[in-house]
Amino acid sequence: MSLPRAALLRELGLWPQWRLKAPSSAAPPPMSAGESRAQTIARMDWDELTRAILQCDACPLHLTRTQGVPGVGDRNADWLIVGEAPGAEEDAKGEPFVGQAGKLLDAMLAAIDLARGRNVYIANVLKSRPPGNRNPAPEEIAACLPYLQRQIELIQPRIIFAVGRFAAQALLDTEEPIGRLRGRVHHYRGIPVVVSYHPAYLLRNPAEKAKSWEDLCLARRVVAQGAPDAGAGP
Ligand code: URA
Repeated sequence: MSLPRAALLRELGLWPQWRLKAPSSAAPPPMSAGESRAQTIARMDWDELTRAILQCDACPLHLTRTQGVPGVGDRNADWLIVGEAPGAEEDAKGEPFVGQAGKLLDAMLAAIDLARGRNVYIANVLKSRPPGNRNPAPEEIAACLPYLQRQIELIQPRIIFAVGRFAAQALLDTEEPIGRLRGRVHHYRGIPVVVSYHPAYLLRNPAEKAKSWEDLCLARRVVAQGAPDAGAGP
């Protein structure tokens, strides 16, 4: 029986040294001596980052995904929407939020005169699909987070709108539930963060859409006023 590639490399004692091979034009930059993987990612430009995500094998999700899903939209956006992880449709298309939840997200953005690609960038915490759409595992989040951190660094958005508990908790490094995190402004490395329900949750619980609308309005107010401590309410 043949071993998966990562297991085989580990078996041969070539893991993770093989990633230090000489760069080709299509490879992400190599790690410098003494540099951690996160430090390497933290100095990537957009092209390097995209390639690194597409070629990433830092966790076992690369064995089951169709492709990595880096993100989509305006790289100079004021708004960064952060979701959880690609689902089946995103995995097939290579773009975040293209399924039913994505349609609702697009409608929410349209309600405040935004659209994907127009002053909005959309990304997920995980860049690879967890099989069967299961929840992200903590070690998968830890392995993938440097990519999102670099995206945030490159975009420098005026607001991060984190939808769902995995996005909120990963960015804010907390275990507090969404119900306690939403309705106020948090910060990630000085950038305001507003937390709200995940669109997939809203599809199952339409009564919560009113709260989500309040959160969107709060985020819009933060962008408009540049007010880091804007209060809750539409
Ligand atoms: N849910 C997410 O959190 N992200 C996607 O890209 C799709 C569904």
